[in-house]
Amino acid sequence: MPAISGPDAGAVAVTGASGFIGAHVVKNLVENGYQVRACVRDSSLTEKMAYLMAIDEKGPGSIELFSCDLMRAAEGAYDEAFIGCAAVFHVAADIGTNKTYGSPSPEVMYEGLLAATAGVLESCRKAGTVKRVVYTSSTAAVMGPGLPDRPVDFEYTEDDWAGGSYETLEQRYTSTNRKGETFMNWNIQRSSYAKGKVDAEKFGYEFGETNGIDVVSVCPCHVLGPLMGKPHDTVWQHRIGLMLAGTTDFPSAGMNWNIIDVRDIAEIQRLAATSHLATNGSRYMAVAHEESGEPTMQELLDTLGELFPNFNIAGDYVPDQSDTRLRAKCTKAINELGLKPHNVLDTLRDTGNSLIDLGCIEPALK
Ligand SMILES: NC(=O)c1ccc[n+]([C@@H]2O[C@H](COP(=O)([O-])OP(=O)(O)OC[C@H]3O[C@@H](n4cnc5c(N)ncnc54)[C@H](OP(=O)(O)O)[C@@H]3O)[C@@H](O)[C@H]2O)c1
Repeated sequence: MPAISGPDAGAVAVTGASGFIGAHVVKNLVENGYQVRACVRDSSLTEKMAYLMAIDEKGPGSIELFSCDLMRAAEGAYDEAFIGCAAVFHVAADIGTNKTYGSPSPEVMYEGLLAATAGVLESCRKAGTVKRVVYTSSTAAVMGPGLPDRPVDFEYTEDDWAGGSYETLEQRYTSTNRKGETFMNWNIQRSSYAKGKVDAEKFGYEFGETNGIDVVSVCPCHVLGPLMGKPHDTVWQHRIGLMLAGTTDFPSAGMNWNIIDVRDIAEIQRLAATSHLATNGSRYMAVAHEESGEPTMQELLDTLGELFPNFNIAGDYVPDQSDTRLRAKCTKAINELGLKPHNVLDTLRDTGNSLIDLGCIEPALK
């Protein structure tokens, strides 16, 4: 299938439109002149609709709201929203960020990734006009346990599947503890999110092949950048907020980061819809573009300290030293799509300032 030509190709739809990534995808599309069918779980939520309506007012594109329950995707919940659409950006997933709906069980999480994605794709097929679907996958479908066949500091690319080749994931995710007990971890109970993303991507590419729709995936790692409203105070941006507020919920082992700006993910998604190089099965890592976006926990704390010199960053937290990095670059998105990524300092500064401006945190002053 050819790429869509741009806003003149017809309306486009975004699922999960009120979420952190989804709202930025909507914003990018509207700023570039698209008519966007913004699919939300509940259009009566005033705070979420306020930032979407502000995007609509600014234009030059426009937004039309549709209420669609992802868990009813298989029953055609998105049929009406997708009528006449040229492309669909499937961003929605129940990853437990909206506490009013509780935390999904592993089964519900997996269902929301695989069966719901299948339902979304079926609505695309029924519409008859959708040429391209841009699916928000995750680096969970790319990275994974490196050892034994990946060296320390291995740099992941779009060719990797959950840390290993797809055929051997069951083997790769089998572990043995010191007592000699063996655990099978590549199943819905233990790896619902990563398995759901891998299986949804694989299903999508087969569906695309059979039905003549390009399914293209974007695989983000640690997403940061400006929040549009308090509902976006979730996931990694929430952890940054805690640090600016003088605390953290990280254990001493800390974590290696690989940071992508939410505005860059939105840009990758729009460019992937119109790229003549992207095709069914194309994947784009939405990750750091240089080593500064791959900080260790201590380096992240140091950078936050430089950006917010009056704040007591993460209180007395001292992470263990790390001599590895979480290595992956968005080189393919830069070379094939023409992405011009944000500098990680701007990403961290804009994350922090939006958390403060929205009143999500009370900064811990020195
Ligand atoms: N954030 C990251 O670091 C990261 C990294 C890799 C991949 N991703 C992927 O990116 C996508 C978006 O994540 P995000 O960080 O933007 O999280 P988010 O803010 O929680 O966005 C998820 C969206 O899905 C919607 N949704 C959930 N259950 C639904 C249902 N039953 N019916 C309709 N809509 C439903 C939510 O609607 P409400 O607004 O009503 O809650 C929300 O808009 C997900 O697929 C996630 O797996 C995120």
